[in-house]
Amino acid sequence: MTAESVPKGGTRGSRIAAGPRLAIPARILAVGAYRPGRGVANAELSRTLDTSDAWIVKRTGIRRRCAASPGETVVTMGAAAAEKALAAAGRSVDAVDCVVAATMSYTGQSPSAAVQIARELGAKRVGAFDVSAACAGFNYALDVARSLIAGGSARHVLVVASERMSDLIDPGDRTTAVIFSDGAGAALVGAYGEPGIGPMTWGSDGSLAGVAGQDLTWAHFRDTPGCRGPYFRMRGPELYRWAISEMPAVALRAVDAAGLDLADLAAFVPHQANLRMIEAIADRLGLPGHVVVARDVEDQGNTSAASIPLAISRLKEECAVASGAPALLLGFGAGVAYGAQVIRLP
Ligand code: COA
Repeated sequence: MTAESVPKGGTRGSRIAAGPRLAIPARILAVGAYRPGRGVANAELSRTLDTSDAWIVKRTGIRRRCAASPGETVVTMGAAAAEKALAAAGRSVDAVDCVVAATMSYTGQSPSAAVQIARELGAKRVGAFDVSAACAGFNYALDVARSLIAGGSARHVLVVASERMSDLIDPGDRTTAVIFSDGAGAALVGAYGEPGIGPMTWGSDGSLAGVAGQDLTWAHFRDTPGCRGPYFRMRGPELYRWAISEMPAVALRAVDAAGLDLADLAAFVPHQANLRMIEAIADRLGLPGHVVVARDVEDQGNTSAASIPLAISRLKEECAVASGAPALLLGFGAGVAYGAQVIRLP
């Protein structure tokens, strides 16, 4: 093993691991957000689509979403959010051992978005790979980061959730075009004296692939002259009913796994899919009145994997919840795949 291949969190010697070394606690040290400059209000969409501001606000709570410019890519937006997270944590990029990118809209596919984000950051000799879990991507990547640190493979992991959903959305499809949006959120996860990221409860159900997901493969697009897409399609009402009936129990299990009660929570940060759905889940959970419910979706729209770290960033900017307070994160989406965990807010 060369000096370079010894992870910053690892040790030399013959032991692979001693018991306690396998459970180094981790915490989100800081978050960063990147929101594209161009906002798209409901009124703008209603000029090209058969929709209205009143319909969108009533059914989704969304008033505005973001549209990335050509230079705002999954990689550049993700790197910008990561730089902000590093600055907020007071760490240099040299502290980073691994970059884990959560994205469903990186059309480059290989090399991974994470490798390109690491290059953009100037991160040398870091691990880098992507996680594909659609709108639950941040939850999954965060648990990967927690596990890398717990197992001694890394001391600091950059979790970067970045989405350019405008590349996957059919601009003529009013059932998706009014909802999805572009942006990136990042979290610097580091070894910490006490646990700040609880165990994840998760699941998936591939029989619901047709309810939300890409309609065609890239190979189909390549082989079919005149083919438009592939596009992300969604049977919204079915997804809505599934989410509000299934997700409260998943969220409750995550609170239980963290050894907490709902009354201990300070914030609930679910995937920012639709405000009506968020409120229905919060209601079915029976959240106490003091728990702040994230509403970033209202003027950011649904940014898939990026939506949870963007929502955490806004809570921080608004000083809505104290640092160290417990927050329940719940992600769910295409496929379907879902996951939840309780964190201590940075
Ligand atoms: N503007 C105006 N009317 C629209 C519309 C739009 N953007 N989209 C659909 N409609 C119409 C429908 O065609 C339907 O018309 P009809 O009654 O004449 O048939 C009517 O509005 C009601 O549509 P419906 O789809 O039943 O509305 P809804 O109340 O279920 O809201 C969603 C639609 C998509 C907002 C909602 O189902 C939803 O948010 N689902 C979950 C989405 C989600 O979680 N996405 C995350 C994916 S990761």
